[in-house]
Amino acid sequence: MTPIAIVRAPAKINLFLGCGERREDGFHELTTVYQAVSLYDELVARPGSGDVTVEVRGEGARAVPDDDDNLAVRAARLLAARAGVPADVHLQLDKGIPVAGGLAGGSADAAAALVACDALWGTGVSRADLLELAAELGSDVPFSLHGGTALGTGRGEQLTEVLGHGQYHWVLALAEGGLATPTVYAELDRMRAVGGLHPWGSLDRVLAALRAGDAVALGTALSNDLQPAALRLRPDLRRALEAGRELGAVGAVVSGSGPTVAFLVKTGAQAIDVAAALAGMGVCRSVRRAHGPVHGARLRD
Ligand code: C5P
Repeated sequence: MTPIAIVRAPAKINLFLGCGERREDGFHELTTVYQAVSLYDELVARPGSGDVTVEVRGEGARAVPDDDDNLAVRAARLLAARAGVPADVHLQLDKGIPVAGGLAGGSADAAAALVACDALWGTGVSRADLLELAAELGSDVPFSLHGGTALGTGRGEQLTEVLGHGQYHWVLALAEGGLATPTVYAELDRMRAVGGLHPWGSLDRVLAALRAGDAVALGTALSNDLQPAALRLRPDLRRALEAGRELGAVGAVVSGSGPTVAFLVKTGAQAIDVAAALAGMGVCRSVRRAHGPVHGARLRD
């Protein structure tokens, strides 16, 4: 048992997101390639006063629930129930990942809470069991635990390591407001029912680019089936996408269900230039730089 546990959990970008049909359980069958990038939420877990409580600070904190709807709270309760220990912890969450941005911020918090509470309570749950609990909490939560670069199948929760080389440099254009993931999936279903959506992207090209460590090839291969739906709901994102391409990004894609737009650039120096220019163009709320892949949710030393 430790008196305090501090965990950092990363944001993710989908380098490829192939969305299949809606399943009977309401989820869509996915083939996706995730990459964990260096924007983090930090969670501090301390002994509570007989219950699970949370306090949220930082980027967009006011939009994050501080009750039982909070994904970190749900994660702590789930772990306590499965491990047979009292659900007693105070969670302090510092948001560095934009809320409802398509960057898996909520999933990062859930993954962080699993790791932190496991350490605080000394439950000693195996990695495999933590991944199973993560999948119960949300489709992206197992990846937030796993980190790196991984292929996700099923509803995104079944992970396979992707072999790859190199560090990739990203510029993220954060949008005003957020997009609710179910709304974006529903819009994609609607657009597909009407017809006229063309197949886009190739998983093989993304995997080959990662194997070769080739940022330019990866940039041209980035694709996301949710992007047309996100753009339909948020037409303003087109300006950000175009601006990044004009500034020389080798790839531009809406991240997950959006509305964050991710630009891949060739070097860290180019990321500084593109981020500065983008910030001056008034096409987004703010700009962040990040690199990936980075590790998943883990205890800070
Ligand atoms: O699993 P998670 O809680 O992140 O999913 C949020 C919502 O996103 C689901 O309720 C569903 O509407 C949609 N979703 C989906 N197919 C997936 C993952 C998420 O339709 N594979």
